[in-house]
Amino acid sequence: MLLLTKQDIQQIFTMQDALEAVKQALRIYSEGGSVVPLRVNLSAPNYEGQTLFMPGYVAALDSMGVKIVSVFPHNSEQGLPSVPATMVLIDGTSGVVCCILDGTYLTQLRTGATTGAATDLLARSDAKIGALLGTGGQALTQLEALLTVRNLTEVRIFSRSRERTQTFVRQAQAKFSKFKALLRAVETSAEAITNADIITTVTTSCQPVFDGRLVKAGAHINGVGSYRPDMQELDEFIVQRADKIFFDSQKAALAEAGDFIIPLTKGTISAAKFTGEIGQVLLNNLPGRETPEEITLFKTVGISVLDIVTAHHIYQSALKQDIGQKFVF
Ligand SMILES: NC(=O)c1ccc[n+]([C@@H]2O[C@H](COP(=O)([O-])OP(=O)(O)OC[C@H]3O[C@@H](n4cnc5c(N)ncnc54)[C@H](O)[C@@H]3O)[C@@H](O)[C@H]2O)c1
Repeated sequence: MLLLTKQDIQQIFTMQDALEAVKQALRIYSEGGSVVPLRVNLSAPNYEGQTLFMPGYVAALDSMGVKIVSVFPHNSEQGLPSVPATMVLIDGTSGVVCCILDGTYLTQLRTGATTGAATDLLARSDAKIGALLGTGGQALTQLEALLTVRNLTEVRIFSRSRERTQTFVRQAQAKFSKFKALLRAVETSAEAITNADIITTVTTSCQPVFDGRLVKAGAHINGVGSYRPDMQELDEFIVQRADKIFFDSQKAALAEAGDFIIPLTKGTISAAKFTGEIGQVLLNNLPGRETPEEITLFKTVGISVLDIVTAHHIYQSALKQDIGQKFVF
């Protein structure tokens, strides 16, 4: 068995590699090539925490596994990640665990790559201005993915804490100096999204984080945060205004994300609004953006096939490059 840390993964697997892996995962998922049971959620109400068990199987890669990922929003107060995770990868030919990976970084990498893949398919090719709402554990890879798939000149960054936003911007500037974009901390979400070509929301908010009436025609939006029926990052205006709405998994998003469950329950949108899965665009079964003025929206709640396919490729690279720590029980 191999143990792979964040540093190991960073050494051998780039955002570009992750983009390829998640595109493969999204195709496999949408053509029915994976087994992805709905995840099991256990609540720890005393800590407002939840632990999720995300199993899955991909026959074409002879890979299966389970990611154990928790969402404990108060962890950051103690310097712990809010979304800590461990990935257990299983050899699908023998059922033996072959690799344990830092699932916290795997989650950050594949979630960034997932919105990156959707942005690559749906955003206008001439997109120049990005907006990032949220500067927590997932935000850096979200930003990296946006910078990787589009030649942005400016990304405006907003979160609830001004200080935290400025610290994030300083870190991001140092890390992403090879990209030419100006990274700018802004004071309000309206300032961030007005005139933006691409908007990514990656927050733990239960209330909408921007005013959908301010979104410009032709924009592309990624919603990453809301994962429970009571959580709504995207307001009803933007869900109504979007010309096309895509998901990583439509079934999972409509079971879990308040962004859609709340307006569906109120009757302010109907299921006819939903275009389908981004994997169908990758398979050429659905068109992506068709006109420059369309507003496109992508919602991800995260599916295990993204973890398994990405972990599988990381593991294969690690074997080839002799990276990681071998371990025997
Ligand atoms: N879709 C997926 O596959 C996937 C994967 C991992 C995490 N997530 C979700 O992404 C979200 C963010 O994760 P994280 O690890 O970065 O969380 P985090 O706790 O580290 O950071 C949360 C961020 O949200 C900001 N925020 C909260 N409420 C806000 C508001 N009203 N307006 C503006 N900003 C606000 C905070 O200031 C902070 O910057 C979580 O909901 C998490 O469950 C989704």
